[in-house]
Order: sequence, then structure tokens, then C-alpha cells
Amino acid sequence: MKQEIMTIISQQQLAPRIFQMTLTGDLVKEMDKPGQFIHIKVPRADMLLRRPISINQINKEAKTCTIIYRTEGDGTKVFSELTTGDSLDVMGPLGNGFDVDCLTSGQKAYVIGGGIGIPPMYELSKQLKQNGIEVIHFLGYASKDVAYFQDEFIALGDTRFATDDGSFGVEGNVGNLLLDAIQKEQPDAVYACGANGMLKMVAQVFSDNPNVFLSLEQRMACGMGACYACVCHVPDDETGVKSVKVCDEGPIFRANEVVL
Ligand code: FAD
Ligand code: FES
Repeated sequence: MKQEIMTIISQQQLAPRIFQMTLTGDLVKEMDKPGQFIHIKVPRADMLLRRPISINQINKEAKTCTIIYRTEGDGTKVFSELTTGDSLDVMGPLGNGFDVDCLTSGQKAYVIGGGIGIPPMYELSKQLKQNGIEVIHFLGYASKDVAYFQDEFIALGDTRFATDDGSFGVEGNVGNLLLDAIQKEQPDAVYACGANGMLKMVAQVFSDNPNVFLSLEQRMACGMGACYACVCHVPDDETGVKSVKVCDEGPIFRANEVVL
């Protein structure tokens, strides 16, 4: 993990409240694993905590990385007002990242993303595909208006969509798509990032699969394992005191390692 002042080389709006930002800097040399995140200082003196945002794409040759974020509060609103040439104080890459080495060429992976959990799944899918893995994407959005990155995923492989209101793809959540898919085939590994309810459903549907990897989200402060702001409980702990830190032991856990 390193810290650097990175330069914004582009920023564009993909959908209402959803922005894609590309940054350049030496930190990109450290980025390898999909599912890791960067911890970004908001360039405003009164905002002390950094904001964790997943890495959406890594381009080592161009020395760039891309993030996709949704404006939620003041921090992400400030990010959305920045433009080409502006700089950001970035720490990273942080977290463990998805395990792509548990699969070998020819095997099949389900890549599942919901809402603003979709961005890190793109770099993951790219790397899986490079390793000869067949990827099937299951992407869920609230509605067609807030859907983004559909063509990029389609270019990597079979991609199925669901929206809460049925305005695009199947109506309902990605669970409907998954239940349909597993009638025909079982994946060798499952990767998911999204709301807690979606992660619980994925863990349940694939409870017999040992390779189910979930990306968790917790509020963070230091982002590097020092403050215990981001703990999550572990299963079968009668004392209720055992926990894991999402920032440095995660954010990716096997489904049976954490209480969702
Ligand atoms: P505020 O609500 O004003 O933030 C107040 C404080 O709460 C800040 O310290 C903020 O960091 C924290 N906070 C608020 N919401 C969250 C949240 N959901 N998760 C963690 N901390 C939160 N969002 C994206 O849009 N794209 C991503 O790729 C992405 N990746 C993430 C990866 C990880 C590992 C984690 C933990 C979170 C990720 N998030 C992502 C969520 C993102 O960090 C929050 O939306 C953001 O911090 C909100 O900041 P704010 O100042 O706009 O909102
Ligand atoms: Fe400090 Fe995780 S945010 S330990």
C-alpha cells in the first residue's frame, strides 16, 4: 500500500448520480488484484476521513486506473465536481482482492453485481477471461435509467440483466436470474458484490459451493487495519467477540467466513 497524489485524466457521468473517473500515477504499478479498493481523501479541509472506492479497471500500460462511484453525501459530491487535471490524494491499493487462482482454464464463473457493487466486477471478469475462464454475468439495477456498463460486460461474455421495476432485463432482483441459470448448469466459482441482502441470497443459493467469494462493504476510517472501525462478525462464535476487519482481511471473504 502506498500513498500518492494522482491526477484525474477524465471524468464523465454514466447515469444519474453515477460517475466514472480515470486517474493516473505510479500507484497503478501496485495494482494487480481485482476487488481491491483505493482510499481517497476528499479535497476539503473539513472532511477528514478518506472515502473507499473499488478499482473498476487497471491499465498498467497507460498507467491509469478507473473508478465508478455514485454520489451519496458530501464526499462523493466533491469528487463529482472535479475535472481533468485536478489531483486527488490516494492511498492504495487496499484489501485482499478476489481469488482468481482457484479456477483453471475452461472452468466457469458466475460474476454477480448489484447496483453500485458492479464496478469491481468488471476488472475481475477481464482477468478471469484472460485466464481462460468462461464468465457469466448477472447484473442487477434499480431501473434502466440507472443502468451503466452493460456493453462493457457484454463484450466480455454472456451477460444477464435484472431491474427492480422490470424496465430492463428480467423484473426483480438477480436472484431470479440465478435460480433460472442453476437449473441448467453449476458454476465452479461464484463472485458477488452488492447490497447485503443480495450477498445473503447468493450465499444461500450456492451454499454447497466452496468457492463463493463475497465483497463486503463497511464504513471505514483508517482503511488499513489499525482502527477496527470496519469489523464484521464470524460464524460459530459463541462469545460474539471474534471478528474480521473488512478493510485489510477483506473486503472479499468466502461466504462461510463471515456473518452477513
Ligand atoms: P457520506 O454518507 O456523507 O459519508 C459519511 C461517512 O460515511 C464517510 O466517512 C464515508 O466514507 C462513510 N460511508 C458512507 N457510506 C458508506 C458506504 N456505503 N460504505 C463505506 N463507507 C461509507 N461506492 C461507490 O460508489 N463505488 C465503489 O466502487 C465503491 N466501492 C467501495 C468499496 C469498499 C471496500 C467500501 C467499504 C465502500 C465502497 N463504496 C463504493 C461506498 C463509498 O465508500 C461510499 O458511498 C462513500 O464513502 C460515501 O461517502 P460520502 O461522503 O459521499 O457520503
Ligand atoms: Fe480501520 Fe478497518 S477501517 S481497521
